[in-house]
Amino acid sequence: MIANNVDVRYENSSNVASKFLLTSAFYLVVVAIVGILLALMLVRPDIFPNSLNFIGLRAIHLQAVIFGWLSMALFGAYYHIIPRIVKTDLVSRKLGNLHYYLMHVAIAAVVVTLLMGQNTGREYNEPVWYLNIVVVFIWLIFFGNIMATIIKGRNNIPKFSPALIFMVLSALYLGINYLWSNFIPWTGVLQNLNVWTWAHNAVNGWFMFSIQGIFYYVVPKMTGLEGKDSPYPHFLTKLHFLAVAIFIPPSVLHHLLYNEAPVNNFWKYMGEWTSVGMLIPTFIWFYIILVLLRNSKKPLGLPGKFVVATMIFYVMNCVQGSLQSIRFVNDYTHATQWVVGHAHLALLGFISFGVFAFTYWILGRYYGADSYSVKLGNIHFWTVLVGFLGMFIPLTIAGLIEGSMRGEEFYTIRETILPYLNTRVVFGFVTLIAFTVYLMNIWKVITAARATGFKPQSTEITTYENVN
Ligand code: HEM
Ligand code: HEM
Repeated sequence: MIANNVDVRYENSSNVASKFLLTSAFYLVVVAIVGILLALMLVRPDIFPNSLNFIGLRAIHLQAVIFGWLSMALFGAYYHIIPRIVKTDLVSRKLGNLHYYLMHVAIAAVVVTLLMGQNTGREYNEPVWYLNIVVVFIWLIFFGNIMATIIKGRNNIPKFSPALIFMVLSALYLGINYLWSNFIPWTGVLQNLNVWTWAHNAVNGWFMFSIQGIFYYVVPKMTGLEGKDSPYPHFLTKLHFLAVAIFIPPSVLHHLLYNEAPVNNFWKYMGEWTSVGMLIPTFIWFYIILVLLRNSKKPLGLPGKFVVATMIFYVMNCVQGSLQSIRFVNDYTHATQWVVGHAHLALLGFISFGVFAFTYWILGRYYGADSYSVKLGNIHFWTVLVGFLGMFIPLTIAGLIEGSMRGEEFYTIRETILPYLNTRVVFGFVTLIAFTVYLMNIWKVITAARATGFKPQSTEITTYENVN
């Protein structure tokens, strides 16, 4: 028999999680500032000093997205959720804090080395080898702490917890992917494949897989649907897991579909069709979350608004992804602004909106839903929506124009798409305003948190059946 309304203390967990969540917003503003510089460089290269080069800044943009903004926020969610699933406080607050501070040191080191011109030239994995070792060390601290917590709470592990399975496997996948992609000295085609192994699995295996696990935990709570039975059909969540596990790894090959890629046709077909197969898990997860939202017993509020947008962008992202994996479409869209649009739809539209949703939700639980301003939150929602669509739509159109002009002179193509690149700059500023509003709102939470001495609500009334 499971007890109801039991007080559970999660001091370590809440303390560490709130640090990560409160600071991630800062890096998001950095991402946008660098993004705007890049966008300006592509339309007015003449106004920049030679010392500021596009390649280095682009790498800083990517590393700030991957580690500063999205991973920091995901780590926060992990530190909040996993201890609550196994009903055991985080084993070590010290290690959690060490993880937090090392992240800042590592990000600063990455930025400085990239500005100094130390760059591997491997897209999404530009930092040099000695920083790779630091990243592995940081990951070990994170994963060790999470696993030790799960082991300590092993007697409380629920029989069926898609949130736990998705999150733990995603964190493990992150580590394996990083080791595999950085420390095996392959050359030639295999090295090329390895570059994409990191990028593809970081965005799909870490960001997407994690967000799905986090939503499996957060959305039932947000909608008041956690109950005795799992709020979603077991069969479908198992099928979701299986489909993701089958389709994600081989679909890395969709990055090497273009004609010049030195990969034989068999593997290109594999990449093509496993990518189309990704539509199976896409629609299963969409359906599961949609049913939860439809049956919600509570008003969804600000976090719910972000959840709805996340799900819409998720489907758009995956349908677009599957479409561009069909080879004759890929021949048209590859290496054009269309792909840049897809990347922003994925990481800004889908993943970042998901992060906004759970960050508002978790911080609301810690410091009260009135610790942030719902009015500012709504301004943030609409400005980021307009800013993002204002970048995504012109990039998609520019990509289609580029595709139709293959073989023509570079400068002719650039002149033709210039109005769209200018539009990106304008809406980039709107996006920056949105992120600044978000940071201001988070700052408001920090002020509320100061009043409690940064002590998140350490005693929560938790219904045990509701934990997952
Ligand atoms: C103010 C907002 C932003 C602007 C103006 C902006 C602009 C840019 C520009 C100009 C590039 C280089 C494109 C190229 O190489 O042709 C880029 C790349 C990229 N940005 Fe942003 N960005 C912004 C925000 C973001 C955010 C918030 C994310 C993710 C959360 C993000 C993720 C990426 C990714 C993944 C790429 C690599 C795209 C690719 O390789 O195809 N950006 N961005
Ligand atoms: C059904 C799911 C998806 C499919 C089939 C798919 C397919 C693709 C394809 C074919 C490309 C390469 C385009 C080219 O270079 O011609 C690509 C690029 C990319 N995808 Fe996806 N995608 C999917 C979902 C996602 C998700 C969920 C994310 C992130 C959360 C994501 C992030 C990216 C990024 C960042 C790139 C740019 C890589 C670069 O710099 O070239 N995609 N995707």
